Amino acid sequence: MRILMVCLGNICRSPLAEGIMRDKLRKYDIEGVVGSAGTASYHIGEPPDPRSIDIARKHGLDISTQVARAFSVNDFEQFDLILAMDQENYDYILRKARSDHDGQKVHLIHDSLYPGEGVEVPDPYYGGQDGFEIVYKMLDESCEAIVRKLKL
Ligand code: 4NP
Repeated sequence: MRILMVCLGNICRSPLAEGIMRDKLRKYDIEGVVGSAGTASYHIGEPPDPRSIDIARKHGLDISTQVARAFSVNDFEQFDLILAMDQENYDYILRKARSDHDGQKVHLIHDSLYPGEGVEVPDPYYGGQDGFEIVYKMLDESCEAIVRKLKL
């Protein structure tokens, strides 16, 4: 299973989602590749936000070597599942889809737990460290639900 996590900047939410999902695939012994990308290009080439690195480290994950990049249409070839953090990211990716096949790969990450409810992972960039703890918790829960489904 090849999974791509997508947010706006690819420095706060999706790098964390990438680290969490990679760890869960390993724990559940699922063969796979995990990546992340942003819909905006402001932070291309940068490491994750220090607050994401910190929260990951607090939970035993090292995401410090990941590098931000922009989402590309080519990602529809490279990944089976494309998970958007919020509705804006979701809409952006769907606009790039070239076929129903591409579009069917795209989901809001929290749809794993709350199908059809449009639950979004809030952008923590302009807030404090507590926002990153909330994001971590949401991503841990949704990734856990996804890997359990994959394991069935
Ligand atoms: P992310 O957070 O989409 O979770 O990586 C953001 C990072 C940077 C900006 C916005 C959101 N920004 O405006 O630079």
